[in-house]
Amino acid sequence: MFMQALWRPMRLAVFLLLAVVAALAAQAQSKGAPPAPVVDSMRGSTPVDKESSPPILYPTENKDVRRTRNYAMQPPTIPHTIDGYQVDKDFNRCMFCHARTAAEAAKSIPVSITHYMDRDNNVLADVSPRRYFCTQCHVPQADAKPLVGNSFVDVEQLLQRKPGVMGSSK
Ligand code: HEC
Ligand code: HEC
Repeated sequence: MFMQALWRPMRLAVFLLLAVVAALAAQAQSKGAPPAPVVDSMRGSTPVDKESSPPILYPTENKDVRRTRNYAMQPPTIPHTIDGYQVDKDFNRCMFCHARTAAEAAKSIPVSITHYMDRDNNVLADVSPRRYFCTQCHVPQADAKPLVGNSFVDVEQLLQRKPGVMGSSK
């Protein structure tokens, strides 16, 4: 009987205590460390309901000079413009110049043997489907300011470092 009489007020007290604890926890959370800045290279810090002024469109480099590759298996960058080059299931404009049989007339570099190989290393008669959509791996270049930093170090420079010395090569 005694317990039952006490239960009602106790229940209320426990409920009130929990409510206060929850409110305090919520307040502490909202006062915590500021949220990490959102990296959005395209929009920058423009709020979503505002319109940003679009970045300049840089012209694509068209110097026809092959670039040095930065590592052995890098897909070479494209040294010419590719505007309007059609690549779909019916036609591949790139292969029009870069196919083994077209390269001589086009004075281009034929795609290497890897482009004719399937995943089991069988050499096919035509470009392998996994190498068909060229711009998945090869990209044209523009003389634009990089959107994000980059601390890439060529493996040859890495090999020249003294053993045990870390950090950038600068
Ligand atoms: C009209 C012929 C032609 C077409 C079409 C063409 N290319 Fe080229 N490409 C060349 C020639 C010629 C070169 C040699 C460098 C130069 O003159 O620009 C070259 C160079 C390249 C290179 C550099 C290779 C290296 O080893 O550095 C890549 C990569 C490349 N092209 C990719 C492409 C892609 C991808 C397409 C299709 C979107 C394409 N090309 C369409 C003619 C062409
Ligand atoms: C899955 C990625 C990938 C795709 C797709 C791809 N390539 Fe490549 N390409 C590479 C890589 C990696 C290399 C360098 C190593 C090698 O030859 O495999 C290369 C090399 C080349 C080279 C230089 C060959 C040489 O002997 O120096 C040319 C030209 C080229 N690709 C053109 C093309 C064209 C044209 C297409 C579309 C038909 C294409 N690639 C599709 C990854 C790709």
